[in-house]
Amino acid sequence: MTHQPDPQARSRRLYGRRRGPALSARRKALIRELLPRVELSLDSPTVPGTDFAAATIDAGALFKENMVDLWVEIGFGMGEHLAAQALAHPTIGFIGCEPYVNGIAGLLSLIDEGGMRNIRIYCDNALNLMEALPAASVGKIFLLHPDPWPKRRHQSRRFVSPGNIDIVARVLRDGGEFRLQTDETGYVRWTMRCLEKRSDFKLLAEGPGGARQRPGDRPRTRYEAKARLSGRRSHTLCFKRLPRLH
Ligand SMILES: C[S@@+](CC[C@H](N)C(=O)[O-])C[C@H]1O[C@@H](n2cnc3c(N)ncnc32)[C@H](O)[C@@H]1O
Repeated sequence: MTHQPDPQARSRRLYGRRRGPALSARRKALIRELLPRVELSLDSPTVPGTDFAAATIDAGALFKENMVDLWVEIGFGMGEHLAAQALAHPTIGFIGCEPYVNGIAGLLSLIDEGGMRNIRIYCDNALNLMEALPAASVGKIFLLHPDPWPKRRHQSRRFVSPGNIDIVARVLRDGGEFRLQTDETGYVRWTMRCLEKRSDFKLLAEGPGGARQRPGDRPRTRYEAKARLSGRRSHTLCFKRLPRLH
């Protein structure tokens, strides 16, 4: 059975900015010429050059080559983590979600330099993308330095919420991983409260530093570097998607 995307998904509100400083001529050209080749639009064919219509994404048809797994990054910023993961794992397909056009241009620049063929970009709210993916189709979901919204009255804007974690739980396959990194201890506590009582996730605690230790397979993002410069440590929480009961 195909999953029907939530009809309201497209109107979900995004609070961050979509545009920053003017793009250089090179980045404008990348948006014009490279983006159409890698963009994943929910209203247009998923594979450029085919007429496959996608309200529900056919995860197996996203890339020209067969991929052994699909990993998603929510809010990839300037794209340094996504690009490095895609280079390190050429047989895994990646979808990066980011509405900030300067960030999209940053990732396009890295794709242009690295020649990766295993990245698709969704230029909008990651929730819409995940709603359109088949259940249990994703092996890893990264949420690195999400907007912290530290003021109490803004906390409902945080990406981590019970409803959004339901969406994450639906698309992750059994044994898949949801990885959150933040330098905000308030966000760590918030995430723990949101996930610790769930029966579909288990916090992974490996090694002497436990689950909050920075995994070795991950390049630093711009926000992690900023936090380090200001003397703030980043925490990583890795949650395993427990097997569904059939
Ligand atoms: C604080 S920045 C962190 C960027 C990057 N992950 C890093 O660590 O450098 C958060 C990013 O998440 C993006 N973002 C926020 N909500 C999002 C959503 N619902 N879907 C996709 N991206 C989102 C923002 O546009 C912003 O670029």
